[in-house]
This record gives sequence, C-alpha cells and structure tokens, in this order.
Amino acid sequence: MEDRITEEEVLGKAYDARLMNRLIRYLVPYTKAVIVAGVLLVFVSVFAIAGPILTQYAIDNYISAGDYAGLTSITALFILISAVSFVFQYFHFYIMQMTGQRIMYDMRNQIFSHLQSLQLSFFNRNPVGRLVTRLTSDVDALNELFSSGVVTIIGDILLLFGLVFMMFYYNVELAVITLSVVPPLFITAFLFKKKAREGFRNIRIFIAKINSFLQENITGMKIVQLFNREDKNYRQFDRINADHLNAYLKTILYFSVFFPAVEVLSAVAVALIIWFGGIAIISNEFTWGELVAFVLAAQRFYRPIQDLSEKYNILQAAMASSERVFKLLDTVDEIPDNPGAVNLENVKGDIEFKNIWFAYKGEDWVLKDVSFKIKQGEKVAIVGATGAGKTTIINLLGKFYRIQKGEITIDGINSENITKESLRKAVGIVLQDVFLFSGSVRENITLANDAITEEELIQAAKDVHAYDFISKLTNGFEEEVLERGSNFSTGQKQLISFARALVYNPKILVLDEATSNIDTETEILIQKALNRLMEGRTSVIVAHRLSTIKNVDRIIVLHKGRVREDGTHQELLRQRGIYYKLYALQYREQETINDVSQESPY
Ligand SMILES: Nc1ncnc2c1ncn2[C@@H]1O[C@H](COP(=O)(O)OP(=O)(O)O)[C@@H](O)[C@H]1O
Ligand SMILES: [Mg+2]
Repeated sequence: MEDRITEEEVLGKAYDARLMNRLIRYLVPYTKAVIVAGVLLVFVSVFAIAGPILTQYAIDNYISAGDYAGLTSITALFILISAVSFVFQYFHFYIMQMTGQRIMYDMRNQIFSHLQSLQLSFFNRNPVGRLVTRLTSDVDALNELFSSGVVTIIGDILLLFGLVFMMFYYNVELAVITLSVVPPLFITAFLFKKKAREGFRNIRIFIAKINSFLQENITGMKIVQLFNREDKNYRQFDRINADHLNAYLKTILYFSVFFPAVEVLSAVAVALIIWFGGIAIISNEFTWGELVAFVLAAQRFYRPIQDLSEKYNILQAAMASSERVFKLLDTVDEIPDNPGAVNLENVKGDIEFKNIWFAYKGEDWVLKDVSFKIKQGEKVAIVGATGAGKTTIINLLGKFYRIQKGEITIDGINSENITKESLRKAVGIVLQDVFLFSGSVRENITLANDAITEEELIQAAKDVHAYDFISKLTNGFEEEVLERGSNFSTGQKQLISFARALVYNPKILVLDEATSNIDTETEILIQKALNRLMEGRTSVIVAHRLSTIKNVDRIIVLHKGRVREDGTHQELLRQRGIYYKLYALQYREQETINDVSQESPY
C-alpha cells in the first residue's frame, strides 16, 4: 500500500515538451473554445491594468482641477470597464472549465476502452487501485491543467508585463524600488506552495493508511474480537491517527506563516512607494495620481505572482499524471489479431491442443507439452489437483494469454489466425469465480445485449433451472444485483452465470466448476442445468464433483502441467492410476461426510 502511494506521488519535471505536445492534442477538438477564452483573457488583463491608469488620470486631471463632469464620466467609464471585465471573466471561466471537463470525459473514455483491449496478464501485473487512479486522480490533475493552467498562465504573464510597463512609464526609479520586493515575494510563495504540497501529500498518505487500516479492521472485526486484538489494534490505530494529526498541524504552520508574510511584504512595498513617491512629489517629479496608481499596481502584482507558483505545481503534477496515463495508453495488447485472421463461421466445435507449452512468467512452465483432441459435440472433463493447470487450459482456449509453444486449433484452424471476437462468440466460458456486475439480474444474463429477446432470456433461465428462483424474487428479472452479487447465494450466482452462457448459444461450452461448497439440493439443480447446457455442444468441463464426471464422454487427467491420463471413466478406473486414486479419495470423503451430515461438498 505504501509503495503504491509513494509511486503515485512521485513528481518530476514541471515541463516536458514531449508530454506537452501530446496533451495539447486533446485541445484540438476544442480549438475554437480555447481561442475565444484566450482572447477574453487578454481583454481581462488589459482591463485590470486600466484600473490604476484611470485612477491616476482622474486624480491628476479632474480631481485636482475640480472638474465634476470629467470626474463623473471617468468614474462611469471605470464602472463600465469593470462590468465588461466581469462578463468576460465569466465567459472565460465557463469556457475553460467546460473544455477541461470535456477533455476529462474524452480521456476517461479513451483509457477505459484501452483497458478493455488489454490482455489479462496486464491485469495480473497491475493492481486494481492503481488503474482506478489513472482514470480518476490522474485525469483530474490533467483537468486542472486545462481548466486553470495553460491559458491563465498566459494571462498572468500578460498582466505582470502590463503592470511593469506602466510603472516604468510613470517613474523608472520607483518602478525598480517596487520590483525589489518581487524576488522575496516569489521565493516565499514558491517555498510555501512547495511545503504545503508536501504537507498535503503526507496527509493523503496517512489518510490512505487510516482507510486501509479501518477497512481491514471493520471487515475483520470478528477475528479481531475472537483473538482479543482490540487493545493492540487500538494502539496501532492511535499511532497512524497521530501521524495524520501531526502532518496536518505542520501544514497549518506553513499557512499561518505564509499569509502574514505576504501581508508584510506587500506593506513594505507600499511603504517604500509612499516614502520614495512622497519625496518625489515634494520635489515635483511625481503626481498624486501616479502615486495612487503605483500603490494600486503594486497590490495587483501579488495575485499573479502567487498564482504563478501555484501553476508551477499544477504543471508539475499534470506532467507526472500525464506520464502515467500515456504509459498506460501506450501499453499495447500482446495478442492482437493477426493481420490475416479470419472469423470463425458455422462453428462445428472440434478442438485440438498440439504440444502446448505455457508459462505465466519466464520459464516456469505451467503447461508442459499438453496435447489432446476433443471432437465436435464431445463432452470432456479435465480433472487434476489444485494448481495442475486446469484453469490455465481454459485461459488459453479463450485466447486470454499468448502460448509460448505449440498450437491450438478450432475446427482445424490455428487459433492464432482466428479473430478474438469470433472466437469468444463461439466459445462460451463459465468461470470458476462467478462474477456478477451491479445491475439487474436481466443485465447480468444478457450483458445488456438488445439482440436477446425476452423469450430467449426466459427460455435460458428455465433451461438452467434459474427461472424458479428468479421468478420468486420481488422484482423478478429486474431484481437489483448488489456489488459482486453479494445478495445471491453461491448456487444462485452459478445458475445465473449458466443462463448467461446459454443465452449466447455458443457452439463450444467451457466451464470451470466452482469449488465452493453448495447444498445438495442446489447441486442437483446445477447438475441438471449442466446437462442441459452441454446438449449439442462441444463441452470442456473442469470438474471437481464426481457427479459431473460421470456424465462426460471422456476424462483428461492433468498432473503438474502434463496430460497423464485420457479415457472414459471406466477405462481410467481400470488403469488404477491418478484418476483411480482421486476417485477413491473423493468417494471415501463423500461417504464420511454423508455420515456426519446431509450436506455434501461434492
Ligand atoms: N495469473 C497467473 N500468474 C502467474 N501464475 C499463475 C497465474 N494463474 C495461475 N498461475 C499458476 O499456474 C499454475 C496452474 O494454475 P491453474 O491453471 O489455475 O490451476 P488449477 O486451475 O488446475 O487449479 C499454478 O501453479 C498457479 O500458481
Ligand atoms: Mg482452477
């Protein structure tokens, strides 16, 4: 957890031309909006400089001359400019925020659709939390760049230049004196922003720690109380909580120093202006109006300078985020469709594994020289101990990983030359861990495919014996499925996943049987459902229950990644090999369990 957070928080350069070029491309669809916003910003900056100038003019030309009419009209002009500036700022802000949000929207869609295209091994290497961060925090950091960063930096610089120019125009010496306050101001602001950022980073790290600690302790409360861990865990929590408090107190310190410091610096600047400006007025080198304009200008200086250091941080964060986002977007699927890949059509359902070698990592062979043939319509079970490589075989059949050696053919066509889409249409896979999405039961079966009719849906549910319990739900097919299907029993989830496979009517059915215990009644239902599922299809079943094995035509025994036995139930029993031992073992267990209770795990 800690590692992950530090990785997320690493910051590098504030400007990277390569990343910037790529980021700018996201602005392209919104070029017009950005140009309009930019033009508005130029006007807003010019108007901001107009304030001190108008004041100077009013004092020196109208107030000192007692010109009521002139004073009234210049005041009116001042108000008019302020009003126009308000409207321009409104549009500028609105346009930039809107553009930022649109870009975020585009980016999130792009990242999500890219994620979907990636091979499963990618998700083994990258924790969920990290990927979610790409779509959320990282995209947010970029949004800030677009909505407040890029364009407004230009405005800030423009405003600064305008003010400096004005000061030098009025009085060179006084301009130099006023500007002498700028370097310390800039340094103060910069240091503060840096420290505050570090502080907030620490706060976020400790918040994350508190969260994960809480999550673990709340979900594991039973264990905590069972093992009398309350005191120990309380002390542990107290430590993390105190770290969080201290991190916060530190940032409060920075804040309490920074704002008064800026006040003091700006007061010093004003004092210097009044002193030197006053002397200049006494010696008639300077007017009252110019003095007031100077004071106003000096005060307008501080915001853009503070903002600039803020924007530096935004830029830095955005560069780091974009680096990570682009790295993700640049990760390509390791198994793209071959250029000449064909669509599987009129699938018969012949499968052949020819001398397959496969490893998830390097040379740790999980499958070793695996070969077998499954003919159209045949029902084959794969059995073997946990870790033998059964699920791996299914993963390869579904083309979720790239095989290192050998080939898999479907209807005689090398699966490397079959498009992934048509292959997955032909092969219906029911996974060991049934996964239900949050949504309705209907959506979980049809996966929101509108081509599936109501009749087909009901028929599929009836065929797998799921209809009975679904129709008893308060809302039937519309019943809400909670996250990960927590409001359904294991057996019900399994039946729903069967219906999902059946409704797509695949020619090849692949099923990784769930190992979890279910009651006998549900087991009988599932067995019936299974028989219906296998009808008229080539079926590959990873079997854990004896009942399943009895109904298949053939059994393949996998042991430590190798096919060790292959034949019918009777043949394998006669061989007195691994299958015989497995069978005897399970049979004995079942007997004992039946003695103890009515619930059988097999
Ligand atoms: N995603 C993975 N990354 C690395 N190793 C894996 C992965 N999935 C499975 N393995 C390893 O491959 C071997 C076979 O696993 P698996 O095919 O799931 O076995 P089975 O389904 O027969 O229990 C095991 O040693 C397991 O640790
Ligand atoms: Mg498995």
